[in-house]
Amino acid sequence: MSPEFLILHSQHSTLVLECPPDEAPLWRYWGPRLPDGSTPGPALRGTRPLPSFMLDFDQPLTVLPTFGVGWFGQSALLAHRVGLDFAQAITECQVEWSVPGSAVVLHLLDAVAQLRFDVSLALDVASDVLTMHTRLTNLGDASIDVQWLAAGTLPLPGDAATVRSYAGQHNHEFLLQTDTLSRSQWRRENRRGRTSHDCFPGAVVTTPGSTADSGLVFGAHLAWSGNHQQTIEWLHDGQYQWQMGEWLAPGEGRLAPGASLQTPEIVASCSTQGLNGLAANFHAALRARMAWPGGSMRPRPVHLNTWEAFYFDLVPADVMALADAAASVGVERFVLDDGWFHRRHHDRAGLGDWWPDSDKFPQGLGPLVQHVNSLGMEFGLWVEPEMLNPDSDLHRQHPDWALQIAGRPLITARNQLVLDISRPEAADYLFEKIDALLAAHPIRYLKWDLNRDLTTAALAGGLGSAGYRAQVLAIYALLARLRAAHPEVEIESCSGGGGRIDFGVLRHTHRVWASDCIDALSRVQIQQGFGQFFPPEILGSHIGTAPAHTTGRSQSLAFRAAVAMTGHLGVELDVRHLDESTRSALTAWISRYKNWRNQLHHGRVWRGEAADGLVWQAHGDSDDLLLFVYRCQPTSHRYTPPLRLPMLDPQARYQVEQLVPIAADGAVQSPAPFFDQLQAGGVELHGAWLAQAGLPMPRATAETCFIVRLLRVG
Ligand code: GLA
Repeated sequence: MSPEFLILHSQHSTLVLECPPDEAPLWRYWGPRLPDGSTPGPALRGTRPLPSFMLDFDQPLTVLPTFGVGWFGQSALLAHRVGLDFAQAITECQVEWSVPGSAVVLHLLDAVAQLRFDVSLALDVASDVLTMHTRLTNLGDASIDVQWLAAGTLPLPGDAATVRSYAGQHNHEFLLQTDTLSRSQWRRENRRGRTSHDCFPGAVVTTPGSTADSGLVFGAHLAWSGNHQQTIEWLHDGQYQWQMGEWLAPGEGRLAPGASLQTPEIVASCSTQGLNGLAANFHAALRARMAWPGGSMRPRPVHLNTWEAFYFDLVPADVMALADAAASVGVERFVLDDGWFHRRHHDRAGLGDWWPDSDKFPQGLGPLVQHVNSLGMEFGLWVEPEMLNPDSDLHRQHPDWALQIAGRPLITARNQLVLDISRPEAADYLFEKIDALLAAHPIRYLKWDLNRDLTTAALAGGLGSAGYRAQVLAIYALLARLRAAHPEVEIESCSGGGGRIDFGVLRHTHRVWASDCIDALSRVQIQQGFGQFFPPEILGSHIGTAPAHTTGRSQSLAFRAAVAMTGHLGVELDVRHLDESTRSALTAWISRYKNWRNQLHHGRVWRGEAADGLVWQAHGDSDDLLLFVYRCQPTSHRYTPPLRLPMLDPQARYQVEQLVPIAADGAVQSPAPFFDQLQAGGVELHGAWLAQAGLPMPRATAETCFIVRLLRVG
């Protein structure tokens, strides 16, 4: 016998479902923690609606609302059997606890349409993150075509006000877009075959009065690296439903009798501590599920990446000289980017031929790897396994391995095609080539790139059926196979910058390249958006050149370093040609990173924007906080308003110390006694004062960073 109510609690949130035995479970509550033992109140359908010419029966929101039987909102399933069985409804519900009190599987049957749904929900006690996914099984004796299957349907309260999602493009990821919720449907879809730069699979919903640090907010993200869709829709009972799932190309959801379709996972959370509270929940959930080579506490090593120093012009003597220079400034991992493999002299050839170019590296990669190791650095390598150039040995030998539709032209992007890695022989080929490299050399890191969207993505050599979903599952399988064979190797997910950043790929990877744009000013914004869902230690962030190659803007080394160092720091410039003072300044920044990275990468992060062009982030906890305040625009105030730090303990006293003079790199800061003291050993201030009145902000030129430590002293 099913229980009447299902109640799941985490530390700060509660979920309540009502489970009649012959219907889909009804959403009764998802929100801030209710006290143990609090009994659910009356359901809306027990109250009397306004009389009107409506159905005699009002269908409330369930975990699986279905079309055609009295539900007029978006359905969690759109499917048919050649026109039949188009209207589904649950006729039986069985509840199976997988972890009593926190994880449950709802076995739902539609005895008429002959379908079974297994809806899994788990609420993590520590992080307050709810994970949800759905499996559909075809119990009928004819195939069923699924057009849409929501990974989950979540309720949002009727006072939900705005939805914050992320748009963008190459070099400009995580561009915040805020829309007001209304009775019009809010919907975002991505059909690019990868997570995408322009449509992040997730969003945050605010309620009135919520801020960066207070008020109720909800967030959800689809852990999936392919096509996706999300919808928020106003319902007649005054609340909203939020659906998320994979966008299926026509035919991808065809299920033979007995076959199943498993959706990706939704990770969702709510917080009464505003955007930063919500971010902390997502960070904790991701940290708990990542598998790090060397353990999660292993310090994130400083990278040097060769891309912007050399592009494709790799000359071993120069590369070795760059390695020397890198080691001399404190770099710990040297990464050979694009250009190293067979006939890869430009972006028109070579992808697919994963062995060293014999002109550039006549003795293979061995001498370079040994040189790098002899300097005390790890070696890392760039690959783009899912791609091939028409001008490659691989394509000449296997022209049928590219995703393509017979009779239609091949569409290239950056002169490349996509390899159908759902073909076992193509996946085996890639495994063998990469495995051989990893077995031959002590390579400790792969930068795994994916530089184009999928088009004409029909399974190669087949009859033209869509292969987007198969491609994502195959890449996960290939990554898992390589990780199992080489557990010591760390993998970065790059996709022309930030085109593949999601909790799905992060099951198999450890770092993401957030953008090809390493202009520090652009990065401040990118990193703000990124931080809503992802913790700083997985953020690849590099100190680039001035002027920046992607924007032409120049910033001081101090600003570039201060922006990059809060993530997983790297250097992406030709260190060989730095003058002595720049070299020693870079060395000093790298050494600061090494001193601070433990605190930067393992605590909570608070972010915000403040008056007068300031963007800030603070890492640590209320005992010890590292604060970075970026001045992104010139001041328009005579005095910049103080910055309130609400995360501090109002009862405590703090020693506040400025760690690096703003003027270190030529920027001007007006002298003032308070700031002189802040630099010369620090000033003691009360937590309540800092939280309510705020920390005075120095007057400084634009594109500078004010770095302060706040340490509890009593
Ligand atoms: C992509 C990556 C870059 C670099 C190039 C190499 O654009 O995002 O960082 O690796 O490919 O081709």
